[in-house]
Amino acid sequence: MKCTSCQEVDSGGPLAGGLSRRDFVKFCSAAAVAMGLDASFGPRIAAAATAKRLPVIWISAQECTGCTETLLRATHPTLENLILELISLEYHETLQSGCGKQANDALDAAIAAGGYVLVADGAFPTKDGGIYCKINGEPVIDLLARAGKNAAACIAIGSCSSWGGMPSADPNPTGASPASAIFKMKGLDKLPVMSIPGCPPNPYNFLSAVLYFVTFGKLPELDDKGRPKFAYGRLIHENCERRAHFDAGRFAEKFGDDNHRQGFCLYKLGCKGPETYNNCSTLKFGDVGVGSWPVGMGAPCFGCSEKGVGFTVPLHSPARLVNVTPPAFFPNVAAEKGGGVSAGAAAVAAAVVGAVVGAGLATSKQVGKAEEDKK
Ligand code: SF4
Ligand code: SF4
Ligand code: F3S
Repeated sequence: MKCTSCQEVDSGGPLAGGLSRRDFVKFCSAAAVAMGLDASFGPRIAAAATAKRLPVIWISAQECTGCTETLLRATHPTLENLILELISLEYHETLQSGCGKQANDALDAAIAAGGYVLVADGAFPTKDGGIYCKINGEPVIDLLARAGKNAAACIAIGSCSSWGGMPSADPNPTGASPASAIFKMKGLDKLPVMSIPGCPPNPYNFLSAVLYFVTFGKLPELDDKGRPKFAYGRLIHENCERRAHFDAGRFAEKFGDDNHRQGFCLYKLGCKGPETYNNCSTLKFGDVGVGSWPVGMGAPCFGCSEKGVGFTVPLHSPARLVNVTPPAFFPNVAAEKGGGVSAGAAAVAAAVVGAVVGAGLATSKQVGKAEEDKK
């Protein structure tokens, strides 16, 4: 008997934007691995994502459009694949073609239909009745609550929406607050909310979370700040390519000095990797491979995703060391239950996306702390 899986995968033809179904299954396998699942979940995730387009309402408040821009930088899938094939984007002020009454009617109809994922983007001003950000004359905090009532879940994308971000920086003149605070204020505490902080966040953390929701009908496992553990379970410092220099006491002292040029640790320049939970050091940005993240390019992490660090403490002050001593050994990747990524899984991810995103680094790092139970 002949296996026909490959033909079946290809039988639906390419997705919009030219991504082949085979490549999409590969992406889903990589996303499964990134979420701490076995790569064999890839076809299941791909099938769920293409079977029914998930309705999404995207509400933008006090934001800079960087969180939408970050999705433009994703290549597997591209933004076109995402909005034309995988989700049904009912409302998004930057991406929708309609405007005025047409856009408002589409929004109202989508809210009435319910069952959508609500993406909250930007911080939400609470001072003076929320007058500092209005959409169609309605304070955005009221619109968020109105949309939250019929939503299946909310994904707060970016630091602004997750914990206030840049608009909430002292003295926070508008009372900029995270989406979760608005739901609490409006009596919608029961709405499941997941935060994907970062300024902007890595688009693959957002896309992976969306795929997880589409496949399993629930949000992935979250930490105490509402962040998916698969992405925010580890300190940047734990998997940083400059970590060996930190442990050996080799630091850049000034921007552009010999130590900086040699790629030494950026701790003395104010790197906040030791107190920032994120997967930047393993996932990278922009699909261009090795070094494509702030620290990789010689810029200290400023903790953009971490509440109480980014936009809060001075850029070049030394980080608070959460783990003072280097680990005697790296984590046993299969020992704990949770949302990490196993070394074996990382190897699979590297195999899947390696040519594009720097497989060597992905396999060389000890990432994550556990594999989630197979669903
Ligand atoms: Fe812009 Fe950063 Fe806020 Fe996203 S989190 S909207 S990138 S300021
Ligand atoms: Fe990397 Fe920053 Fe930690 Fe140095 S302090 S090892 S540059 S994360
Ligand atoms: Fe932000 Fe630091 Fe990552 S500045 S993008 S959390 S390396």
